[in-house]
Amino acid sequence: MVLGELVKLRAMGPADAAALWRWNHDPDVMRWMDDNHPSTLEHVEKWLADRPRNTYGDLLLGVEVSSDGRLIGLVALRDAEPETGIAELDIYLGEKDYWRKGYATDAMRTVCRYGFDAMRLHKISLTVVTENLAAQQVYKKVGFVEEGRLRQSFRRDGKWYDQFTMGLLEGELR
Ligand SMILES: CC(C)(COP(=O)(O)OP(=O)(O)OC[C@H]1O[C@@H](n2cnc3c(N)ncnc32)[C@H](O)[C@@H]1OP(=O)(O)O)[C@@H](O)C(=O)NCCC(=O)NCCS
Repeated sequence: MVLGELVKLRAMGPADAAALWRWNHDPDVMRWMDDNHPSTLEHVEKWLADRPRNTYGDLLLGVEVSSDGRLIGLVALRDAEPETGIAELDIYLGEKDYWRKGYATDAMRTVCRYGFDAMRLHKISLTVVTENLAAQQVYKKVGFVEEGRLRQSFRRDGKWYDQFTMGLLEGELR
């Protein structure tokens, strides 16, 4: 368990499958996210049950609201390698009633602090669709800066969108 000010980050298991399946089928939540082909609830349950425990290179944590214990989303740090000290970050909050209340900002601060302090990372990177202004606002608030633009690298409803790559170095977390 990793504690933030508003949220707790904790390991996920098969009991979280129903929430994850519901979020993955919500077009508002998935609007600017890469989505996989549709899957059944049973597949999601099996994936969570079979998934190896969290490791340095593959860390998946549920975001739980401290005040009511509700699971509202997840964060992931993936592809970290000790040789480079760089990891990729993903975040999404699937419970829309909890948007715009500061939970993503706190979850970002908490997972990045964990990455820099506990994992000794040097850098955390992410990509975000240029149209996803809410996510960019969260990333900038905690200190991420734009590093580049990936042209036409995200496709949604037959249209191509650019993405920004953003990065946060150790010492830059706000
Ligand atoms: C993007 C997301 C993580 C934000 O979560 P959240 O808990 O609502 O974020 P916070 O409340 O911490 O902060 C949201 C910030 O974005 C701002 N914001 C929200 N909607 C906005 C919009 N349409 N345009 C500009 N800023 C916006 C808010 O005002 C707030 O900034 P402020 O605190 O400076 O006022 C959440 O909406 C989500 O998971 N969306 C779906 C998945 C997704 O897009 N994930 C990111 C993929 S890269």
